[in-house]
Amino acid sequence: METRTPPLATPVRPADAGGIGEAARLLAGGRLVAFPTETVYGLGADATNGEAVAAIFAAKGRPRFNPLIVHLPDLEAARRQALFNPLAEKLAARFWPGALTLVLPRRADAGVSLLVSAGLGSVALRVPSHPIAAALLRAVERPLAAPSANASGRISATSAAHVAAELGGRVDLILDGGATPLGLESTVIGFQDEQAVLLRPGAIARAEIEAVTGPLAGPSGKIQSPGQMESHYAPAARLRLNAARAESGEALLGFGAVADAWLNLSPRGDLKEAAANLFSMLRDMDEQVEAIAVSPIPATGLGEAINDRLKRAAAPK
Ligand code: TXA
Ligand code: MG
Repeated sequence: METRTPPLATPVRPADAGGIGEAARLLAGGRLVAFPTETVYGLGADATNGEAVAAIFAAKGRPRFNPLIVHLPDLEAARRQALFNPLAEKLAARFWPGALTLVLPRRADAGVSLLVSAGLGSVALRVPSHPIAAALLRAVERPLAAPSANASGRISATSAAHVAAELGGRVDLILDGGATPLGLESTVIGFQDEQAVLLRPGAIARAEIEAVTGPLAGPSGKIQSPGQMESHYAPAARLRLNAARAESGEALLGFGAVADAWLNLSPRGDLKEAAANLFSMLRDMDEQVEAIAVSPIPATGLGEAINDRLKRAAAPK
């Protein structure tokens, strides 16, 4: 088991009006603030301030070639940063505010720093639905760049305590809004010849998107998401997937009606519940055991995104 040094102190404040006001002041001054969204906690900075955006990469230890998602209060603000095609408009109308990220061509007059795009001509945009994220975006009156609030390559944070464990001492304030309801990152959609491409499966299932777009293409050589590296979401513990049972030395992370689970993502076999529990249970087990066996998870619905995260959590580092 890896022993971690205790996190350095970072102020954690409840996300009441005072907390949101202080967060907005810090962000406007170029500082970093972690805040809850409906998917996972984000590590936020003023997306129009290059130095503040650079500080995100430093705090996460994130490679500079991996671009960031820009969060906006509404579609109108999003249209000021990127060029929307008709399909993107339809997706935004259907899923925003919510757990959908659209990767679109940057407008020449986009106000956000070139650093958020990591050298690409595109920019990733999302209008979050979480009331605290929405209130913060309205208060700060500028777009916020926010990757998941974890150290690069590690498990995403779904609570303020997890953010403190990942980034304590490297962020100026953590806004505590409790556990994030969905627990999985947004679904990322790009476009190739105006056809929708699934760049990252996420909290909105493929079938829901395809009801709007028709069949999604997978990422090809032409368009891709630099963040989709094989090893990611990685616990320190060894991870074995599609396990019927735990072997000796392993603890079972169960799904459905399985015996002897150390923890169970959803005893009743509900994928939404499993998605909400995935990162926090992986993190809990990682603190206590050296090897984790995970029950098979169906590939349907949210299972696509859950299996994507598990596969990359299990990949060799
Ligand atoms: O739910 C979420 O999306 C959370 C919350 C905080 O909004 N954010 C999040 O950010 O997951 P991050 O940085 O951990 O993941 C962003 C993903 C990465 O895989 C990145 O490579 C991809 O989006 N991405 C960002 N900008 C892109 C671009 N211009 N082109 C292609 N992929 C992009
Ligand atoms: Mg991430």
